[in-house]
Amino acid sequence: MTSTQGARSASIGVRVLGSGHYLPEKRMTNADLVACMDTSDEWIVKRTGITERRRARWEEGEKTSHLASAALRNALKNANIDATDIDLILVATMTPDTPTPSVSCVVAREVGCGNIAAIDLNAACSGFIYTLNVADTMIRSGMYKTVAVIGADCVTRHIDYSTFGRGAAILFGDAAAAMILRADDDTGVGMIAQRMHSDGAGSKHLFIPEHCSDFPDPDDFDDRKLDKVQMNGQAVFKFAVSKFQQVIEDTLTDAELSADDIDHFICHQANSRILDSARDRFGIPQEKLLVNIYKYGNTVAASAPLVFEELRQAGKIKPGQKIMFLAFGAGLTWGSSLWQL
Ligand code: ACO
Repeated sequence: MTSTQGARSASIGVRVLGSGHYLPEKRMTNADLVACMDTSDEWIVKRTGITERRRARWEEGEKTSHLASAALRNALKNANIDATDIDLILVATMTPDTPTPSVSCVVAREVGCGNIAAIDLNAACSGFIYTLNVADTMIRSGMYKTVAVIGADCVTRHIDYSTFGRGAAILFGDAAAAMILRADDDTGVGMIAQRMHSDGAGSKHLFIPEHCSDFPDPDDFDDRKLDKVQMNGQAVFKFAVSKFQQVIEDTLTDAELSADDIDHFICHQANSRILDSARDRFGIPQEKLLVNIYKYGNTVAASAPLVFEELRQAGKIKPGQKIMFLAFGAGLTWGSSLWQL
C-alpha cells in the first residue's frame, strides 16, 4: 500500500500567511573542520557543495526551542498577526531541548501564544513536510484556523567533530524556519497532493544511539560513540537519490501535473549532488530548484522552510504559483507536499 494522496476538503482552503527564520550567529567553515579532523575544503565542496554551516551555542542555552521561537516571532511579523492569533503550533524536530517538555510547548510559552495546542513531530529531515501535510489536514477539518508550522534542529549537539565522525560532521548545521498557515474561503489554495513514507528497515543507516544496545550491528562500527549521529553515507545517498525522484514522480502523477507546471521545487538540502540528480532526471531549470546548502549545510527539519524563506525574501514566491516541498531523512522517511498558493 503506497498511495497516501491527501483528500481535499471542498469547503476550506489554506493560505500561507507568512514565514520567518532564525540562524545562529556562529559560523563553522570548512577551514574550522579541517582544524579538528582529517578532511579538506576541496573534498567537502566537491562531494557535498557545502562551504559553511551555523552552530548554535547550545552549551549557553541556544537550543532548538530558542531557534524555533525566534523563527516564529519573525514569521508573525511577516504575516502581520499576533501570537495570540495562533491556535495550533506544530514543531518538526529530531533534537528537542530535552525529552520533555516538547519544543512546541516551550515555543508557545516563549512567544506568548497562550494555552493552545502544541505538538512536536519527529520525522527527521522529512519532519517539516510531514507537519505541512498535518497542518493542512487539521485546518481543512475545520478544527483549527491559524497554524504555525516550524522546522527546527540543533543537530550539531550530536556530531562527533573528530575524524571518526567526519562523514556526518561536514554535512550538518543548525537553524529554524517557520510558516504561518490560515483557513481561507478560497478553496483553490492549499495542499493539492502529498506523500508521506517510511521504511524502518533503513533506520540502521542513520541514527543517534543512547546505549550500546542501540547499535543494530555493532561489528559495523569501529568507534561506537553514544549520543552522536551514526551514518552510512553511501546507503543514505543511494536511498535519497532514488526516493527523491520517485516521490516527485508520484506526486506529479497524483496531481495530474508535469514538472513544467511547478514553479518551485523546495527541496531538503542534504547534498548538492542529490539535488543535481533530481534536476537532471526531470529537466528542472536551476531557477526552479534553489540550492542554498553551500551556506547552511543540512539543517534537518529547518532545511526546506529555509529555502522557502529565501525565495520569499527575494520576491520569488507569488500568489497563483504551484510549489512542491520535498524531503528525505532518517527513519528512513521521505515525503512531499504540493501547494497551490
Ligand atoms: N573528508 C575526507 N575524506 C572523507 C570524508 C571527509 N569528510 N568523509 C569520508 N571520506 C573518505 C572515506 O573514508 C572514503 O575513503 P576510502 O575510499 O579511503 O575508504 C572516501 O572518502 C569516500 O567515502 P564515501 O563515504 O564513499 O564518500 P561519498 O562520496 O559517499 O560522500 C557523503 C560521503 C558526503 C557523506 C555522502 O555519502 C552523502 O552525502 N550521503 C548522504 C548523507 C545524507 O544525506 N545524510 C542526511 C540525511 S537527512 C536526515 O534525516 C538527518
